[in-house]
Amino acid sequence: MIIQPRTRGFICLTAHPDGAHQAVKNQIEYVKSKGEIKNGPKKVLVIGASTGFGLSSRIAAAFGSDASTIGVFFEKPASEGKMGTAGWYNSAAFEKEAHAAGLYAKSINGDAFSDEVKKETIELIKKDLGQVDLVVYSLASPRRTHPKTGVAYASVLKPIGQPFTNKTVDFHTGVVSDITINPVENDEDIANTIAVMGGEDWKFWIEDLKAAGVLAEGVKTVAYSYIGPELTFPIYRNGTIGQAKNDLEATVPVLNDLLKDLNGKSYVSVNKALVTQSSSAIPVVPLYISLLYKVMKAKGTHEGTIEQMQRLFADRLYTENGEVALDEAGRIRVDDWEMADDVQAEVAKLWDETTTENLSEISDIEGYRKEFFNLFGFELDGIDYEKDANENVQVPSIE
Ligand code: NAI
Ligand code: NA
Repeated sequence: MIIQPRTRGFICLTAHPDGAHQAVKNQIEYVKSKGEIKNGPKKVLVIGASTGFGLSSRIAAAFGSDASTIGVFFEKPASEGKMGTAGWYNSAAFEKEAHAAGLYAKSINGDAFSDEVKKETIELIKKDLGQVDLVVYSLASPRRTHPKTGVAYASVLKPIGQPFTNKTVDFHTGVVSDITINPVENDEDIANTIAVMGGEDWKFWIEDLKAAGVLAEGVKTVAYSYIGPELTFPIYRNGTIGQAKNDLEATVPVLNDLLKDLNGKSYVSVNKALVTQSSSAIPVVPLYISLLYKVMKAKGTHEGTIEQMQRLFADRLYTENGEVALDEAGRIRVDDWEMADDVQAEVAKLWDETTTENLSEISDIEGYRKEFFNLFGFELDGIDYEKDANENVQVPSIE
C-alpha cells in the first residue's frame, strides 16, 4: 500500500516501514562513524527499545560495542493490510540490520510494567545470554497498570500550585499563541504521575532481574531524566512530570544498595530536549525545542538521540579509566551542551521575540516538523513515498 502521514494533533497515525528502516540505518551509520566504544556493554537489556532514546541506546550498544541486545517495547504489530506502529517498524529494521551484522538481537512486545513481561524477559536472558551487564530503562508512557494491585494510573502534564501561562506553538501550522495550563486540583494527579513515570517500575525490574540471577558482576543500569530551562520549569521540572523525575532520580541510591554485592551501579542520565513521540505531547516544550535546535545547530553543538546515546556510552558510562562523571546531585549530564550559558541566553532572548510572523526565521520550526515526521518514517531522504510500501514487515524474533 501507499503510506502517507496522517496526523491528529501531536500524534501521527501512520508509519512508513521503509522510512523507518532508513532512519535506523542512518543511526547505525552514525555510531559506526564514531568507532568502537571501548570497554562498552556486551549483553544489554533495553526496556523501551523501539523509539526515541531507548532505540538509540540499543543501536549505540549493538553497533558501538558489538553488544547482544534484548529489546522490550509496546507496539502495534503489522499484518497483511494493516500498518504497524513506528516502533514496530524500527524494531524490525534494527533486528534485520543487527542479524546481518552477526549480532544477537531479540525483542519482546508487551507491557513492561507487568510481572508477566518481566518473567518472559528473564527467561529469554537465561536461555540465550545467561546474564546482562547493562539494563537501560527508557519507558515513556501515559499510563501504567500496577502489577501488584491492578490499579490503573494515568499521568498528567500539569503545573503545581498556580496556572502557567506561556507561549506555545502548533508545529503543523506554525501558529504561536499563549496557552494557560491549570494546575493539578489534587495531590492524586501528582501521585498518579509518579506511579507511571517515577522509579518504582525500574526498581521492580532490577529486583526481579537480580533475584533471578541474570545480572552480571559489575552490571550497570541507567534511566533517563530531564531538567531543561527555567521557562519550562512550571510545566516540566516543577510540574507533575518533574515530581516523577525526582522520584526516578531518588531510586538511584536504592538500586545502588541492591546492586552493591554485584559491584553494580545505577545511574540517571539527564538528556537533552529532543523531538520524540513523548516530548511532542508536552505544551510549550516544542517551541523551546525549535528555538534550541536553531541555536545549537548554528553553534555546531546540536545532537539527536543517537548522538546523545553514543556520547553517553563512550564518554560517560564506559570511560577509559572506568570513572563516571556526575553532577552535584549524582546524575550523569549529557544535557550539558543544551544547558550551556551562551545557548540558554540566546534561547531566552529569542523566546521573548517569537511570534507567528517571525517563527520560521528565528526558530528551527521546519527542523522540528521534519524530525517529527522522521519519527514515523516520513520525509527521509532516499525513500520514494509514491511507491507501494510493504506494510507487513515483521520483527524477526517475534513469532
Ligand atoms: P519514546 O516515546 O520515544 O519511547 C518510549 C518507549 O517506551 C517506546 O519504546 C515504547 O514502546 C515504550 N513503552 C511505552 N509504554 C510501554 C509499556 N507499557 N511496555 C513496554 N514498553 C513501553 O520516549 P523518549 O522521549 O525516548 O523517552 C524515554 C525516556 O527519556 C523517558 O524517561 C523520558 O522522560 C526521557 N527523556 C526524554 C527527553 C525528550 O526530550 N524526549 C529528554 C530527556 C529525557
Ligand atoms: Na525510548
